[in-house]
Amino acid sequence: MIRPLIGHQIIHLESVDSTNNYAAKVFKSDEVGPGAVILADIQKNGRGQRDKTWQSDAFENLTFSFTAAINLWKINSLMDLNRIVALSLYELFKEIGLEPKIKWPNDIMINDKKISGILIENFFRGEKAKTIVGIGINVNQQQFSIPRATSISIEKKEFFKTRELLDLYLSILNKLIPHYSTLRAEDLQRLYDQQLWLRNEEIRFTTRNNEKKHGRIIGTTLDGKLLVNLDGKTISVRNGEVKY
Ligand code: BTN
Repeated sequence: MIRPLIGHQIIHLESVDSTNNYAAKVFKSDEVGPGAVILADIQKNGRGQRDKTWQSDAFENLTFSFTAAINLWKINSLMDLNRIVALSLYELFKEIGLEPKIKWPNDIMINDKKISGILIENFFRGEKAKTIVGIGINVNQQQFSIPRATSISIEKKEFFKTRELLDLYLSILNKLIPHYSTLRAEDLQRLYDQQLWLRNEEIRFTTRNNEKKHGRIIGTTLDGKLLVNLDGKTISVRNGEVKY
């Protein structure tokens, strides 16, 4: 069997603070190379984007990270990696018969509810950039403390084996990376924009200073900002500048 790019080594922990922290530690110290997967049944201090927490009931869901080396995998930029990971999760949910959408910058939504989140972290060691990709997927959890969240089991009305789902995801990712890494940034941007949640719909945005504005999402810029039309004007916004 050919050694897969991602998942040739899987470290399965029963409990950890955060798989991203654990992956960063073993990647920094060269205990693992690129493409190692760290999977945990219990994540006690899961981290989300912009210093939020990621809560996941023990043994119910998938919480894992993988170590990445974008140069080695011929991925042009972290932005491209972001889009590739979001698109790979999009493909996973499609594969199991759901209708996913990508909520900018990188949440996966099903029926207007969040089912998966991505936390990509990058650090340098000498000349080499090392990257950790952390993914949380709600699999069998039935209730959530936050509004607008769902799981595969809620949507499909059946329970899933988390490990089988991880294997399916890794097989999709291992097929997509060699293909997507040959695409130009503009092509990835187009593929990503096509799957944007609420694109072209009239929606209400809340700005940082709590103003409510009507507008619509047009797409993303090449460097990953969200392009929105607000009060007839097209502007680009950074992560955290608007809520919707
Ligand atoms: C987000 O939606 O804000 C991103 C959530 C990312 C959660 C995953 S779970 C596995 C990995 N370890 C973490 O601490 N966070 C990521």
